[in-house]
Amino acid sequence: MNDRPLHATPQRVWFRRADGTGTAASWLTVTVDGVPVRVREGDSVAAAVLLAGNKVYRRTLVGNRPRNPFCWMGVCFDCLVEIDGVANRQGCLVAAREGMRICRQTGLPELEAMQEND
Ligand code: FES
Repeated sequence: MNDRPLHATPQRVWFRRADGTGTAASWLTVTVDGVPVRVREGDSVAAAVLLAGNKVYRRTLVGNRPRNPFCWMGVCFDCLVEIDGVANRQGCLVAAREGMRICRQTGLPELEAMQEND
């Protein structure tokens, strides 16, 4: 059991597994924004995105505001992510599978480019 307080971040470990063991019967490899990430069988896509070291999970379409998963049960939609080319999937409700390609949704680049030209 890890007895470090939850607010302590001297090593910049933003997220860790609740059981602290890191052991699993089966490991999977997915990619998050092209970076390979090892996750345990049964981990959600949202967990994979955070385990990849992303402090900001996604950004909103309007305002480019940072968002992270909030409810972890399909209610808040703050975990929207692209999975294998399909956008707007709820990462908290989808279990990671071997080889899954996950991309964070970070606003609308086309709109950002348009705003820069104004
Ligand atoms: S974290 Fe709220 S819907 Fe996924």
